Formats: sequence, structure tokens, C-alpha cells
Amino acid sequence: MLTVKNLVEEYKRTHPESQKLHERAVKIFAADGTTHWNRVLDPFRPYITHAKGSRKWDVDGNEYIDYVMGHGALILGHSHPAVVQAVQQQMARGVHYGENHQLELEWAELIKSMMPMAERVEFFPCGQEANVMTIRLARIFTGRRKVLRFEENFHGWADELVREDSAGIVADAVNVIPFNDLNRVEQELSTREYAVLLTEAGGAHLAGQIPIDIDFARALPDLAHKYGTIWVLDEVVTGFREAPGGWQSTVGVRPDMTVLGKCVAGGLPAGAVVGRADIMEAFNPRAPLERRVIHTGTWNASPLVCSAGVAACKLYQSGEPQQKARQIADYLRQKGNKLLRDRNISGRLYGRSIVHFYLGTIDYEPADDTMPPTRDIDKIMNPAGAAVWARLGLHLFQHGIATFDGRCFILSAAHTREDIDQTIGALGDSLDSMFAEGTLGKALRAG
Ligand SMILES: Cc1ncc(COP(=O)(O)O)c(C=O)c1O
Repeated sequence: MLTVKNLVEEYKRTHPESQKLHERAVKIFAADGTTHWNRVLDPFRPYITHAKGSRKWDVDGNEYIDYVMGHGALILGHSHPAVVQAVQQQMARGVHYGENHQLELEWAELIKSMMPMAERVEFFPCGQEANVMTIRLARIFTGRRKVLRFEENFHGWADELVREDSAGIVADAVNVIPFNDLNRVEQELSTREYAVLLTEAGGAHLAGQIPIDIDFARALPDLAHKYGTIWVLDEVVTGFREAPGGWQSTVGVRPDMTVLGKCVAGGLPAGAVVGRADIMEAFNPRAPLERRVIHTGTWNASPLVCSAGVAACKLYQSGEPQQKARQIADYLRQKGNKLLRDRNISGRLYGRSIVHFYLGTIDYEPADDTMPPTRDIDKIMNPAGAAVWARLGLHLFQHGIATFDGRCFILSAAHTREDIDQTIGALGDSLDSMFAEGTLGKALRAG
């Protein structure tokens, strides 16, 4: 059993080349040697050399079942042959023509075929940039300045999207209010000051670590329109992951604009804004000066990215990869929750094709196991839990399982039942070790 004393030593022993690279990296990357906060871990996350399907391998030859899956972008799994072939062919034909090309049109038409609200489509280099553009478009359309957002909802790090406005820079332009409270939303919107209401599809953090109430979501478009506000749904995670029509098609809502990212480009970097033609008319260079927005960006719809987007969207159209990812996620939840119950651990796995791990008091047993066993956001997000998740993440790495933050399992169509069975074994061993070493409190033993 890997105890507090020897887990880190054992991890370093089995990851010597990663350690050397980490030591070089801390001298150059300020975020503890990483290029993304989610890749920070004490002592370090492994350095990966290649990936295929549901697996990836590090510089020391360790193999992992991957539940990071390109931060959610890879619902088809790593290096899907159709995407690889499309990108390889395109690479030889040129990556950037600085001109219009057929692939951008084909990609946009595929998106429109799956998402009927996409009267217009525009491409960007990433999801955040697309989110920022919706704010600009909504401001131009409404002539208003203010942005309404929900607590814990993630949209990116730009000034008007960032979760913690630590410098107070945009405080007067952006208002962040509690989630799932319709009265509060109406109270704000009725001031008629807001250009835009932004909402993360499925709920806050990766498709619903804090789930959004469906009735709440369904009420938002009418409420926004009643007070002249544009409703933007951020489907960067959920778009084409939940269903061909996105999360919106599963609950029956129609946003004014939808923001896409991650899966939309099959694993290459891109974002998209899709939505109402009258709002997006601001991209028309012939629109009056005060009603238009400059639309530039070196990497907008580059042929290489489009080639991957086209290949991936063709596969998404059938809904088959999404269904496979959901089914394998169901299996992970069932097996994982059985493990937790068998060990009397007060915790649950929930979510759809992204499975979240909750540890804490079980306030009720939801009829639907895609939902957490509490409605208390403070319990789900409990900051005191960060050390526990980091520790679990390290234990799981040592067992050949790569998670997102130790508490999130991002599934793809490439994951198999064997992957899940191996994961459950690793999870059981890791939790046992954590109880033994005292990094999981006895309070989490339910019985
Ligand atoms: C819901 C959501 N919106 C926007 C973004 C930002 O997208 P990107 O990282 O492509 O800029 C993310 C990234 O994780 C996200 O989860």
C-alpha cells in the first residue's frame, strides 16, 4: 500500500525523466513549470509523448488510461483515424491560404445541419475568444454595456469572463449572481441594463459539476427577452459532446447565440459563435459603422483546423460517438458507485459523459444517478477538498489513471469496459491507501 511517506518517493522513482523535465520547466513556466493550471500537481504531472484511443504514454514508458481527453475536446478518443487522415492530407496541401476555402464552408454547413439555431456561423481560435465576441455582438445589438453571469460558471480568463475579478477591473461592467435562482435573475434583468446573459450549458464546470436546474434553464431565454437581453449559451464543453444538437437539443432551449469549442474541431484548436442572423449581421463590413464589429484573426478557420472539424463533425452527425461515450460513462458510474457503497464511503460519481466525483455528506439519493447527492454548492466545491483531490489524482497516476484534477473523468467513445474495470480497481486501491494514510478522513466512512 502506498502511504503518505512513500507515494511521492515511489512516483518520483517511476517518473525520473518527467522529473528532469519538470525541473527544467519550473525555471521557465511561472505556473509551477506548467502551461495550464490544471496541469499543476505536487510533485509534478507526467510528461506525455504520445496517445491513442483511450490511452497515453509518458517519457518514462508509463501507460495511462486517459480521462483528461484533451480537456474534453476528444470525444472520439486520441488520434481518431478519420481525423488523422484528414489533417495529414491537409498538411500537405497547405495550412493557411490567407483566402477563402471550401473546408470552412463545409464545416459551417455541418454545424448548421446539427444545430438548427445556427442561422450564421463564425469561427475563432478558441472557445474563450468566441465567448468574448458574443459580448461584443450583444453590446452592439442592444446598445447596452453590462454583462450578467452566474457564479462558478466558467467561460475563460478574459476580463469579462474571469471567475475572480481579483483586480476589480471589470466590476462595474459585469455582475455575477447565484446560480439556479430565477427571482434573482429577473431582479437584475428588470433593470434593463444588461446586454447579455451568459450561461454554461449543463451546469457549472465541465457540463455540470454543479448541474443547472432544467426548469431554470428553460425559463432563461424568455426572461432575457422580456427585458431586452441577449441569451448566450456556452456549449464549449457540451457542444457535440452531449448530442449532435448540443445540450440545448436535450433540454429543448434555443439560445440567441451558442458558443462552441473543444469537440467542434475534433481536437484541433478552435471556437465558434453560431446564432441569430440579425445579431451576427454586425460582422457585415457594409453594416453602419456604429452597428458593426471588426472580424479578423489570423487563425480563424485555418484549413488545417477545418479539415479536422469536418472529419469530426461528420462522425458526430449520427450521434453514435456521443452515445458510446455516455454508455461507457454510465458503466463507470455504476461500478464506481457500487465500489463506494461496498466500502461505506460517503461519496458518489455523477454526470453524463463527463463523470464528476463527489465526496461529502449524502443529502439525498437522487433518482437519477447523473445528479449529485446534494444541492449544496459549497459542499460540491468545498475548497478544503482540493488537497484530497490532488492526493487522489497522484495515487491514480501511480496506478496508471490520468484524471482531470483527481475528481473528474472525461469519457470518450474510445473508452472500453476493460478500461473502466481497470480504473475501478485503481480507484478502490487508491481510496484504501488514502484511508490508511489518513489523507481521507474517517468522517467519509458512512457506516
Ligand atoms: C464552458 C467553457 N467555456 C469556455 C471555455 C474556454 O475555452 P478555450 O479554452 O477554448 O478558450 C472553457 C474551457 O475549458 C469552458 O469549459
